[in-house]
Amino acid sequence: MFSGYKNAWSDEQAYTEVYRNSIQNPNEFWQSHARGISWKIEPSIVFDAVTGKWFSGGISNVCYNCVDRHAIATPEKPAIIWYGDEEDERREISCAELLRMVIRIASILKSRGIKKNDVVGIYMPMIPEAVAAMLACARIGAIHLVIFAGFSPEALKYRLTKSNAKVLLTVTSFRRGGKEIELVNRISDAIDIDIINLDSITYPDNINADIEWQNSDDDLFILYTSGSSGNPKGVLHSALPYMLYVAATFKVIFGIKRDDVYFCTSDVGWITGHSYITYAPLFYGLTTVIFSGSPTYPSAERYWQIIENEKVNIFYTAPTAIRSLQMFNKKLVKKHDLSSLRVLGSVGEPINKSAWKWYFETVGNRRCPIMDTWWQTETGGIILAPLRNLEQKPGVAGKPFFGVETEIIDGELVLKGHFPGMCKSIIGAENATQDGIFRTGDGAAYDGADIKISGRMDDVINVSGHRLGTAEFECAISKVAGVREVAVVAVPDELKGQTAFAYIVPNATDIAPEMLVKKVIQSTRTTIGSIAKPDYIAIVPDLPKTRSGKIVRKLLKNIAMGSDALVDISSVANPQIIETIKIITQNSIFVPNMCKL
Ligand code: PRX
Repeated sequence: MFSGYKNAWSDEQAYTEVYRNSIQNPNEFWQSHARGISWKIEPSIVFDAVTGKWFSGGISNVCYNCVDRHAIATPEKPAIIWYGDEEDERREISCAELLRMVIRIASILKSRGIKKNDVVGIYMPMIPEAVAAMLACARIGAIHLVIFAGFSPEALKYRLTKSNAKVLLTVTSFRRGGKEIELVNRISDAIDIDIINLDSITYPDNINADIEWQNSDDDLFILYTSGSSGNPKGVLHSALPYMLYVAATFKVIFGIKRDDVYFCTSDVGWITGHSYITYAPLFYGLTTVIFSGSPTYPSAERYWQIIENEKVNIFYTAPTAIRSLQMFNKKLVKKHDLSSLRVLGSVGEPINKSAWKWYFETVGNRRCPIMDTWWQTETGGIILAPLRNLEQKPGVAGKPFFGVETEIIDGELVLKGHFPGMCKSIIGAENATQDGIFRTGDGAAYDGADIKISGRMDDVINVSGHRLGTAEFECAISKVAGVREVAVVAVPDELKGQTAFAYIVPNATDIAPEMLVKKVIQSTRTTIGSIAKPDYIAIVPDLPKTRSGKIVRKLLKNIAMGSDALVDISSVANPQIIETIKIITQNSIFVPNMCKL
């Protein structure tokens, strides 16, 4: 399982050769990785390029591969190590214990009548039970739908209703940053669904959690993400092809070893928490460290303490986290022994040079390559990463994974052809791919032989690595009585990468600006969640529009960014408003964090 393609992701020449072969003969490449899967029935062919089908005739199960086989082979080995909000909160879940947890949750689901292909909502903090709940669904062939615990009950309800979920798994509450955050009480009034509170459940006497064997057409999960327009969309991923992709990318890109301890700071509410906290590390039986606290509570040393305590070898985090920790004294990092680290990873947004340098020098001590991995909810796993050596260039995501064809068309990164991580479909959107081409929505350019990502080209705002649509903000804000019109644009932010700037046209009423701002913040919090707060609000008399009444967002964005870049204003029907908006923008209302106003 750990042999082959040894230098393929560290040596340029080896990479080029393996990449060429993987495109010319994809079946051979994927077959070499599919050997790591434990099959009930082996597929006759791994990838059939004629039909585009994976694993013809093959039967297996994702949970069996990630849990059962390791519970048999290495029952005592820690599968999950969990750290909570306080420094002394630590739990170790062995491979055998994880199997017991998974079976208990699966049997509860079965006792509530959950069958193959039923959708099961999971609204939980980053605790081992959340990982076990996902695997329990996989075990019985149910489709999990994880909703980030920071989303509001309204956002939760939207996702559950749209995907026709049958039950919701949750817990009473959790602690983060020293605060208690309620879950079950927050939702029980708002949502009419069978809610299973895993804290207070009595497990059925009759344990019935047999494995539901899956073929390549079976599904594993739906995860909602923000699109370029309208409401969030549900991305549906297959079970077995997805597992193959996340396992292959994890092994090759991070260069894992059998006894590695791996720590990813994401959350199961996002795709990274699915692919690289849960499925990829557990597929190989590695120890995956999870953390439900805040990186700065009770001190800004939490990550470094955990790395030292657990002798973490691979650490995968987001640029936002790096930027927020970079503000503290270096000594907080340096007083910890981080010599176990071999590889560092970054995901979720472009990593700026200063954060990259600090990560490389202060955390990695100039010894560890930084795997700046670019990918998306839709792609299931990593698409671009630099080679794993010390000759990297900061801010350049790098090279496409084997078997994945990329092209830059009109400045946008597009993916071509078939690879097993690509989602099956997007609920409530057009086809995910058109004519075998998937448009990523991200701007990209070549930097020599590598690809450099500049960020979203569409109306998606990446706030601290959280993907939110301007349309979602606008929908939440336009609900507020007193708001006549709203346009939200993304602006750069030193800490969060990007943030939302809202232009609001009030009704003719004489509502006080402070009151309007307060209501707007309340509405984004209840409609989306507290992660979605516009940092700047400008209350303006009108918005720039075309003759057909379309808001000229590009112009607003330039004004918000203080950019003098010329935008063609010949199509603007009310150009006289531009100067007024510019002046108000300079005096816009800054909404502080934890704003109570
Ligand atoms: O804009 C890109 C940015 O995050 C978007 C995908 O968001 P999501 O589906 O939530 O998945 C995040 C975790 C994979 C992309 O369209 N993005 C992600 N990684 C990078 C990135 N932008 C630049 N560099 C990255 N390494």
